[in-house]
Amino acid sequence: MSGLEIKNLAHDYGAGTLFDGFNLTVGAGEVVSLLGPSGCGKSTILRLVSGLEAVQQGNISIGGVLVGDQTTHILPEKRHIGLVLQDFALFPHLNISENVAFGLRGQDKASVKKRVGELLALVGLGWAADKYPHMLSGGEQQRIALARALAVDPALMLMDEPFSGLDTQHRNAVRDETLRVLKETGVPTLLVTHDPEEAMRLSDRIALMRRGGMVQLGTPSEIYEQPVDADVVALFGDPNRLDTFVQNGEAASPWGPIATSQPDGVAEVCIRPDAFRLSDDGVEVKVKSQRYLGADWLVSFSISGAEGVHHARLAAQPGLQPSGMQRLVLDARKAYVFGKA
Ligand SMILES: Nc1ncnc2c1ncn2[C@@H]1O[C@H](COP(=O)(O)OP(=O)(O)OP(=O)(O)O)[C@@H](O)[C@H]1O
Ligand SMILES: [Mg+2]
Repeated sequence: MSGLEIKNLAHDYGAGTLFDGFNLTVGAGEVVSLLGPSGCGKSTILRLVSGLEAVQQGNISIGGVLVGDQTTHILPEKRHIGLVLQDFALFPHLNISENVAFGLRGQDKASVKKRVGELLALVGLGWAADKYPHMLSGGEQQRIALARALAVDPALMLMDEPFSGLDTQHRNAVRDETLRVLKETGVPTLLVTHDPEEAMRLSDRIALMRRGGMVQLGTPSEIYEQPVDADVVALFGDPNRLDTFVQNGEAASPWGPIATSQPDGVAEVCIRPDAFRLSDDGVEVKVKSQRYLGADWLVSFSISGAEGVHHARLAAQPGLQPSGMQRLVLDARKAYVFGKA
């Protein structure tokens, strides 16, 4: 049974269609991310799923139960969801145990105490039971918010930019810890983020959104290796974009033909900057500038047969500073051909 099933959802706040025909499922034990730029409607989807917003068109089921369509609106507190937001929203006047126990009001004292103990142990913060939120770091508060959301045994976890309030030092550790807890409990999770690396790191599948709707749904490797357009390629670093022409399944490029399933005609090649490496049997380029980034050199170059300046990330080697004329080989697996309308 699916944790979440969204069918044919559409929404318009009055300023135009935000998305239409939006479909998504989150399976048992699965973590799915909504990834997209500011204003594309990610939080709106979460609001519709949690019941803070009424469904205008389509339907939403949680744990196999219809919770929202044009005529059904189950109240948020009856949807069996756990919610974790950017600002954690812990109650400052309650201690950590009381915060985690918040959703368990009405249950007998002994079982609440036991459950809170289990949850604090799960997020690795047993020692913090009697502390108050202001006595904990941002990352620790975020883990308490996760424990609080898990307390009610949710059928679905919703997380909206849960790590963006954390400093970069903390963020990766808290992300990894959160993923461990989600996988250990097996709660299906829909996570909102605008950070591609975060989506890659945490998700089983990523739903890529733009204003207007979803543009691609797939595993992290599908999103990276089979991008549907140039903007999806650009999520992971500015690609080099070259006009080309496709004939008989091959797109012309200064590095030789690139195999493609695109039909014959004008097209565009998008090449990731890390698709290049230095090699004597490569194609000659003229280096315009180079910057040392530690693990690699960021090199700007021109090449005959393609207009403009292009960029390569070349693995740094001791004693190497790319300059003047260099020879570059292209890894065609990191070059993508898209038809031009
Ligand atoms: N209650 C509302 N009434 C009217 N318009 C709204 C409302 N909530 C959101 N919007 C608009 O709908 C669009 C999508 O908003 P939403 O909050 O879903 O975006 P988002 O993808 O979560 O963006 P961000 O990454 O900035 O959080 C925005 O243009 C926003 O201004
Ligand atoms: Mg948002």
